[in-house]
Parts: sequence; structure tokens; C-alpha cells
Amino acid sequence: MEYLRFCVFFSFGIKFAASVFSADAPPAFESIPKEKLLILTVATEETDGFLRFMRSANYFNYTVKVLGMGEKWKGGDVGHSIGGGQKVRLLKKAMEALADQEDLVILSVDSYDLIFAGGPEEILKKFKQANHKVLFAAEGLIWPDKRLTDKYPSVRSGKRFLNSGGIIGYAPYINRIVSEWNLHDNDDDQLFYTKIYLDPLKRETLNMTLDHKCQIFQNLNGAVDEVLLKFGTGRVRVRNTMYDSLPIVVHGNGKTKMYLNYLGNYVPNAWNYENGCSGCDDDLLDLTQLEEYPNVLVGVFIEQPTPFLPEFLHRLLTLDYPKDKLQVFVHNNEVYHEKHIQTFWEESKNVFGSFKVVGPEENLSQGEARNMGMDLCRKDATCDYYFSIDSDVMLTNRQTLKLLIEQNRKIIGPLVTRHGKLWSNFWGALSLDGYYARSEDYVDIVQRKRVGVWNIPYMAHVYLIKGAVLRKELKERNYFVLEKLDPDMALCRNAREMTSHREKDSPSPESFHMLRPSKGVFMFITNRHDFGRLISTASYNTSHYNNDLWQIFENPVDWKEKYIHQNYTQIFTHNYLEQPCPDVYWFPVLSEKACDEIVEEMEHYGSWSGGKHEDKRISGGYETVPTDDIHMKQIGFDKEWLHFIREFISPVTLKVFSGYYTKGYALMNFVVKYTPERQAYLRPHHDSSTFTINIALNNKGSDFQGGGCRFHRYNCSIESPRKGWSFMHPGRLTHLHEGLPTTNGTRYIAVSFIDP
Ligand SMILES: *[C@@H]1O[C@H](CO)[C@@H](O)[C@H](O)[C@H]1NC(C)=O
Ligand SMILES: *[C@@H]1O[C@H](CO)[C@@H](O)[C@H](O)[C@H]1NC(C)=O
Ligand SMILES: *[C@@H]1O[C@H](CO)[C@@H](O)[C@H](O)[C@H]1NC(C)=O
Ligand SMILES: *[C@@H]1O[C@H](CO)[C@@H](O)[C@H](O)[C@H]1NC(C)=O
Ligand SMILES: *[C@@H]1O[C@H](CO)[C@@H](O)[C@H](O)[C@H]1NC(C)=O
Ligand SMILES: *[C@@H]1O[C@H](CO)[C@@H](O)[C@H](O)[C@H]1NC(C)=O
Ligand SMILES: *[C@@H]1O[C@H](CO)[C@@H](O)[C@H](O)[C@H]1NC(C)=O
Repeated sequence: MEYLRFCVFFSFGIKFAASVFSADAPPAFESIPKEKLLILTVATEETDGFLRFMRSANYFNYTVKVLGMGEKWKGGDVGHSIGGGQKVRLLKKAMEALADQEDLVILSVDSYDLIFAGGPEEILKKFKQANHKVLFAAEGLIWPDKRLTDKYPSVRSGKRFLNSGGIIGYAPYINRIVSEWNLHDNDDDQLFYTKIYLDPLKRETLNMTLDHKCQIFQNLNGAVDEVLLKFGTGRVRVRNTMYDSLPIVVHGNGKTKMYLNYLGNYVPNAWNYENGCSGCDDDLLDLTQLEEYPNVLVGVFIEQPTPFLPEFLHRLLTLDYPKDKLQVFVHNNEVYHEKHIQTFWEESKNVFGSFKVVGPEENLSQGEARNMGMDLCRKDATCDYYFSIDSDVMLTNRQTLKLLIEQNRKIIGPLVTRHGKLWSNFWGALSLDGYYARSEDYVDIVQRKRVGVWNIPYMAHVYLIKGAVLRKELKERNYFVLEKLDPDMALCRNAREMTSHREKDSPSPESFHMLRPSKGVFMFITNRHDFGRLISTASYNTSHYNNDLWQIFENPVDWKEKYIHQNYTQIFTHNYLEQPCPDVYWFPVLSEKACDEIVEEMEHYGSWSGGKHEDKRISGGYETVPTDDIHMKQIGFDKEWLHFIREFISPVTLKVFSGYYTKGYALMNFVVKYTPERQAYLRPHHDSSTFTINIALNNKGSDFQGGGCRFHRYNCSIESPRKGWSFMHPGRLTHLHEGLPTTNGTRYIAVSFIDP
């Protein structure tokens, strides 16, 4: 208690002493009331950046006066060249009316690339502590005239040079500064302020200084490495680690706009650990309130051979959206896929509002095709949205399109990731030289540990753009860059800094077209829902008949979805399996598609063995109980088949023969064909296996009559095999068995002798 009282007294004393020497100032221990702070900013358009600025200002209840809205911008292209004089002219005019308000504090700031991280009380307190009438933002880089360097007062530590993106000062003083303006709109504002500041006399009489240690103003240019996010309860700030300060006005000057966008994903209250995303539900569009659903042009890009394309196309049909509101434009660059498009077209031509295909014969480059799709929407005033999707995006969420529209952003993409990998459809950061850099939050966003709507620099594969934006902000193609990334990028320094797994998984840079917005249009990615995944198109071999069968390694999730029986997992969850004969288990494992494609593949190959005893394919060259068959190895499918056994058969083995861990090893994996014309049955025999699987590949009744299997020891027959279901039984000793005659049609089974 004593200590506390002492402290209070002590600090009071110091402040009192300070005020003794500044007779004209209000007593220093009296804080400036926050009503006395007025923000002036120049903005000629309500850009995304401006709206973000206003959100942060409103969050802290700043009083903001916007100058120049609706005026044509004549201040030059700041950022690339000098300019910004228009800002001073507008400020000069505004100050004329405020000049005699002695206790009014003016904060003049940019707005397109600026965020507030703290409130008025704090800014006024810090201004007061700076003990000057006018305080400019400071930065470490001199601009626009390097020759002025020596004229600057030197500083022992802190930023030495003036930045005009932020000025705070008493109204009469600000007025005296800007009243000196008599230049043109495209003259440089920073040079103007710099010259006044560098005049020693003016510096003293106007009582000006710079915020050298980023107490109030943080310019990010040249200082990106100094700042970090500081998460607090409820609010997120920026900390300058060099000066250990918590700046209030965060300015993405120069080439640091992307970094400001990253900070703006958090600061001041966009996202935090306690409450997650706070702005995600702002400005939602309620589709149910609309009289009609918006028209969407769906641009589909098949730029390389892509596994599971029929499934991809089918998902477009299952999107939860009125199909007559969808106009489909397909660019197919692959002759291989023409049959798939044809099938899809026949199935859906009367479903969608329209359906247009540009095929490989048009010889369009990827960039041309993408621009063509975008133009179709841009040039059609009734096109409300452009939804671009590449063939490697498996949208498993049927609501995706609705959810994206409802999120109501100019450009937004759903997060999609490669299954089990960190590879995704966006980049979280960009290094200053324009290459890939990993943002601090990339992994958390990909893994959905941070959930929200994120402002990001690059996006590919799938995104939604408002048609109105294509016709306005992005009306010229080059406002919106579809880049074919330089192959060198894969080799660049920054690319090497990617984590090793990302490098390994990266698609080849040449095939990677990314979307990069410019002219201040923000681009978002949402991970608020699970939308789907990216499949791998790498090493897709199209020399087989049914090529997706080979995708078990590269795209295991899609392989399972297509080829594993719908009820397979119920074996484990609902004991969904039967035991028709002692120790003969019967369970669903392959889908109809898997069965059909395996049979097709074998018939396409066509070299059935003929069921002869002499067999060059096996060691010893002699088979005692031969079947009319083709080995998996003959069609180059043995590695994939063995993987299937390990992934999908082994767990069943462990369930029914508990304690037996199969190695999932098999030399004999083959498809047998029974027909009355060739071989109709197989005499009783043992298998050279610990256990055997025998999967029916077609249907009794429709495809053949007869067939089945009989186990002699138990006098037990199974005469109605089910397509896609497998038997599993011990191979030797107890399970002498025979193949019952097929009396009509053709019966196919897939057999493996496991753990021989
Ligand atoms: C801003 O004003 C509102 C309404 O007066 C108040 O509820 C809110 O707490 C204020 N915000 C801040 C950051 O002071
Ligand atoms: C600047 O103004 C402050 C009060 O705001 C005063 O204490 C200080 O002495 C002045 N500095 C100069 C150089 O006039
Ligand atoms: C297709 O375009 C490429 C590049 O523009 C060109 O080299 C090639 O000759 C064209 N092929 C045909 C068949 O027109
Ligand atoms: C594709 O498969 C065929 C047939 O199995 C094989 O001969 C060929 O080497 C494979 N190509 C590649 C690139 O793996
Ligand atoms: C899976 O089981 C359900 C009932 O359990 C059945 O209705 C459905 O047809 C089965 N699916 C297949 C592909 O057999
Ligand atoms: C085998 O079963 C059939 C019918 O299920 C029966 O007719 C026959 O007598 C049985 N044979 C033996 C040896 O038990
Ligand atoms: C044999 O199969 C063919 C074709 O599946 C069918 O037309 C025919 O009726 C069948 N014959 C018998 C005797 O079932």
C-alpha cells in the first residue's frame, strides 16, 4: 500500500515538473479528451482497403472525415512514382476551416493501406508524451529524394526519415504546414513535407519531430521483419520487436500491401484464439431472401489428364444449386478425356442453363482458355458470378457454391487441400521479390486450426468472382493476372525455403496458373467449411484401359470412394459379414465400378491362358489345377492389387481370424473366366495359400447362370455369389473346394492366394 502511494506521487511529480516549462501548453498531466481527435483521410474511391480502414476506425470509435470521395484521383501512381499532391491540396482546404481550433488534434493518414491497432485515448496519450506540436511517421528508407539524406538530423536509434502517410498535430500547426502547398496534384506530398521538416527553422517554430521508434506509426516498408502479431484476449495488436512498442497506425507502404493484408486478417479484432473469426458473418448475402438464385458461369478447366474425371464432372451435377442458373463452359485440353465429356454432355445437356465445350482441337493455351471463360461472364451483363474450377478439385461439399456466394466477397475461393498433405490452393505470403513465402499461419489455415475468411495474395484451382467486379475493377484483363509461373520459381531461394513435403508435393510450376488480384481488390480464401480436396494429377498413366484403377497410391481417397464397396466399412462398424460355411467368410469389398473395370481391363488385354497345365507364368511351368485366367501382373496391376490386399483385406482377416497378422503377400493374383464354351468349372483342390480371397466380379442371373463354390469337408455350397463380395477361407487342409459349373454366359472372379 505504501509503495503504491509512493509511485502515484512520484509519477505525478514528474509530470508536474514537465509542465512547468511549457507554460503555453495545457497542463501535461491532463489528458486530451478523445473528442478532440479528428482523423482526416483522403480517399477517392471505396476500395477494399478503404473499407477495411473504416472498419478498424469504427471499431475504435474514431471520428473520421473523408476528403475527396468521388473525386477523380490525380495524385499519380503512388507506390511506383511520386505523386499524392492531391492529398495535400484536399487537406489544405479542409484545414482552413479548422485552423483556429487550438486544442483540436488532427491525425492525417492514408486509408487504402492502413489499419488502426489501437484507439483514440492511446494515440493521444502517446502524442502528448512525444511533447511536440506535430509528429510525422518515420521510416528507415528515404523517399523520394535520396540526396536529402545528409540534411536529416541523425538519430542514435530509430527510424531517421519522414513518411507522410501519417501526421498527427494540433490543428493550427498542421494548417500552417499545409497552407504552404502551392504545387500540382501529381507533385509529391512526401517531398513537400520533407522539405518543410528539413528546414531547421521551420522544424523548430512548427515544433515538429518524427515518431522515430514507432510508438504511433508503423510503416511496414523495410520493417516487415520487425513486426509480429501480438494476440491478446479479444484484440490483436502489432508489436514492433526492435523498439518494443505497440504501434497504433499500421501502414502497408511500398511493397508491403500483402503483409498488411496478412496483419489485417487479425488486427484489430478480425480473428483471435478466443473467439475465432469475428467478421465472418458480416455482410452475408441471404440467398433465401432473393427472388431468384443468381446466374453463375461455371468455367471448367481440364488442362491435363486427370484421374477421376467422370466423378469430378458428376459432382457438378450434384451441387446444391438450381442447375438452370448454371451456364457451363468447359475447356478440355486432352483428347483422352473427350469420351468422358461426351458421356457427361449426354447426361446433362438438358440440365444446365447452357453447356459449351472448347476441345483440344482449338489448341488454346491454358491462359487463353481461362481468359475466355472469364470474358464470357464479363461480357454478359446477366452473369452474376464466375465460378472457375479445375478438374483436379473434388468438391465434396455440395453446398460449396451457395456458401461462397453467401460469403459475399468480390473474389473468394474455398480452401481445398491435397489429402493428408500441406499442399493447398493458396499461398499465404509472398516474399518482397514476388516469390512464394510461407506465412506464419499457413499450416494452421490448411489444417483448419484457424478458421475464417482470409485475405491472401495468391490462389488457384477454384474461386468465385462477382460478375460486377469483372466488369468494373477487373474490366481490363491485366487488372487480374493469370500467371504462368516461371519454372525458375521452383528453384528460387524462397521456394527452397518451403518445407520439404511441400516441395515434393508441388505440381510442376508450368501447370500452375494462379490468380493474383491487383488494383487493391482483395482476394479471400475461406476454410469455414470442409469443401473438398485437390487430387494429384502427377504420374497419371493413361496407357491402360481404365486408368483410375492404378491410382490407389497417388489418390487413395478417391480410389477408395470409387472402387471400394459402399458397405465395406460396416464390416467393422456393424459386423456386416456372413459365414455361409464353416470358416468361409463373405463380405462386400469392391464396388460395381471396380468389378466392371477389372473385367473390362482383362478383356481389353485379352490373352486368357486357356486353362492349360503348362504355364510359363509360374515357377516350375506346370499347374495341376489350371484355370482360364489372366494374372494381375500381366496387366501391370500386381503392385496396386497387393496394396489393395494390405489396405482392405488385411483388416478383415484380422477381424475373422483374430491374432493372425497377414503379410498381405501373394504371388498368385488373377482373374478367372468361366464359360461353358471354354472352362466351365474347377475340380476339387487346395490352394497354395494360408488363406484365399475370391471376389465375384459379375452377377448371377443377368451375366451368367450356375457357378458358385463347394467346400467338401462341410458338404457346403454357396451357389449365389454376389458381385463385389469376397469369400475368404483357409487355403489348405480343411478347405478342399471346387468351382461349380457355369452353365450359361460368362462368370468372372478375382482370386488371390495370400501368404503362400
Ligand atoms: C465504441 O462505442 C460503442 C458505443 O458507444 C461502445 O459500445 C464500444 O465499446 C466502443 N468501442 C471501443 C473500442 O471503445
Ligand atoms: C514543442 O512543444 C512542446 C509542447 O507541446 C514543448 O514542451 C517543447 O519545448 C516544444 N519544443 C520546441 C523545440 O519548441
Ligand atoms: C498449337 O499451339 C502451339 C503453340 O501455340 C503451336 O506450337 C502448335 O503448332 C499448335 N498446334 C496446332 C495443331 O495448331
Ligand atoms: C504406363 O503404363 C504402361 C503399361 O503398363 C507402361 O508400359 C508404361 O511404362 C507406363 N508409363 C509410365 C510413365 O509409367
Ligand atoms: C449397403 O447396405 C444398405 C443396407 O444396409 C443397402 O440398402 C445398400 O444397397 C447397400 N449398398 C450396396 C452397394 O450394396
Ligand atoms: C450334402 O448336402 C446335401 C444337401 O444340402 C444333401 O442332400 C446330401 O445328402 C449331403 N451329403 C452328405 C454326404 O452329407
Ligand atoms: C443364356 O444367356 C443368354 C445371354 O445372357 C440368354 O439370352 C439365354 O436365354 C440364356 N440361356 C439360358 C438357358 O438361360
